[in-house]
Amino acid sequence: MSMTESDFTSARPRLDTVPAGDPRDRGGKAQPLLIVENLAKHFPIKNGLFGRKRGAVRAVDDVSFVILKGETLGVVGESGCGKSTLARLLMRLMPLTDGHLVFDGDPVEALRGLSLKEFRRNVQMVFQDSSSSLNPRMPIIDSVAFGPRAHKVKRSAARRAAAALLEKVGLSPAMFGGRYPHELSGGQKQRVNIARALALEPRLLILDEAVSALDKSVAAQVLNLLRYLKRHLNLTYVFISHDLGVVQYLSDRILVMYLGQVVEIGPAADVYSAPKHPYTQALLASQLSMDPGRRIEQAPVSGDPPSPANPPSGCRFHTRCPFSEAVCAAKAPAFGDAMDAAIHLARCHLTDPTSGHSLAGSALSSLRITAPETSAA
Ligand SMILES: Nc1ncnc2c1ncn2[C@@H]1O[C@H](COP(=O)(O)OP(=O)(O)O)[C@@H](O)[C@H]1O
Ligand code: SF4
Ligand SMILES: [Mg+2]
Repeated sequence: MSMTESDFTSARPRLDTVPAGDPRDRGGKAQPLLIVENLAKHFPIKNGLFGRKRGAVRAVDDVSFVILKGETLGVVGESGCGKSTLARLLMRLMPLTDGHLVFDGDPVEALRGLSLKEFRRNVQMVFQDSSSSLNPRMPIIDSVAFGPRAHKVKRSAARRAAAALLEKVGLSPAMFGGRYPHELSGGQKQRVNIARALALEPRLLILDEAVSALDKSVAAQVLNLLRYLKRHLNLTYVFISHDLGVVQYLSDRILVMYLGQVVEIGPAADVYSAPKHPYTQALLASQLSMDPGRRIEQAPVSGDPPSPANPPSGCRFHTRCPFSEAVCAAKAPAFGDAMDAAIHLARCHLTDPTSGHSLAGSALSSLRITAPETSAA
């Protein structure tokens, strides 16, 4: 093959089937696309031989938030904090330990609500590992047509729809339709995965580390494609990544997870410019530390996170927090109304003047963990 990836992928996707409004919209803009209430997933830890339960990994623990129509909600946090488990719960790919979902006003799997099947059609997912999610023995046009075929769409119609989708993601169906996954680059495979996820015309797309395995320039192209598709197809995104830079590029709001909990949520501009939780401040500071032009002396958060099978008492971050006091281990910080998407919330005693923390209510900016050049300036 003499052409490079950019020769193929810089082609502007064709979007001739753009819907004017979304006839599927029920409650209007003011009604969240998805309400997530008290979501929990505890994986049992069993003893070998008799399989007796001896504890649980609290991968997602009482998580509540809303996803607004048309927004990109970025989800960040260290590896193991529960991001992928949350993604799978949002798609209902595994049973919930607790909690429930309301999709555009309809409770999911409740009496007179949406069935799981109806719900799943509206929510699709793109994973990091682009190779393993495509069948190596299937031409990509058939991989993209697979979902509609499973929903009883005739073969010829499903293939036509698949060809249109390949076009939408910037891959010429004539050139790529008959190819097999091993004949594609990583970026092209991820485009096919996006086409596949779009095949059932979902309203919500969950992207779990979807560009994390790609080279920077290819990742940037795929991110631009995602922005473009979102505008034209009335999509809403949950964009999950451990890379704060990538999340910042795409997101309207940010949700920060630590040990299975939401520790901060708010408009992206607020979270990035004035993070309230010491953990978010540390994540942002460590992002700066990876930038060679703005190196900082020491890692802002030391050590690994504790095990989600045995989370610390009180504030789960107290074992690593530079501002930890006795009250932090004794009492779990309050969290405000996570159903109000406009407010910027943090699960930290510092933000609550009545918490009993000696620094509570002090100007938060003076507590910011910043790179030396910013603090020295
Ligand atoms: N199927 C599973 N069984 C048991 N533990 C799991 C399972 N899936 C994830 N976990 C645990 O749940 C926690 C959260 O994992 P995960 O959601 O993959 O985090 P992240 O995507 O943020 O890296 C981790 O401690 C992980 O080991
Ligand atoms: S509650 Fe205490 S330990 Fe937890 S983040 Fe706030 S200051 Fe740190
Ligand atoms: Mg993950």
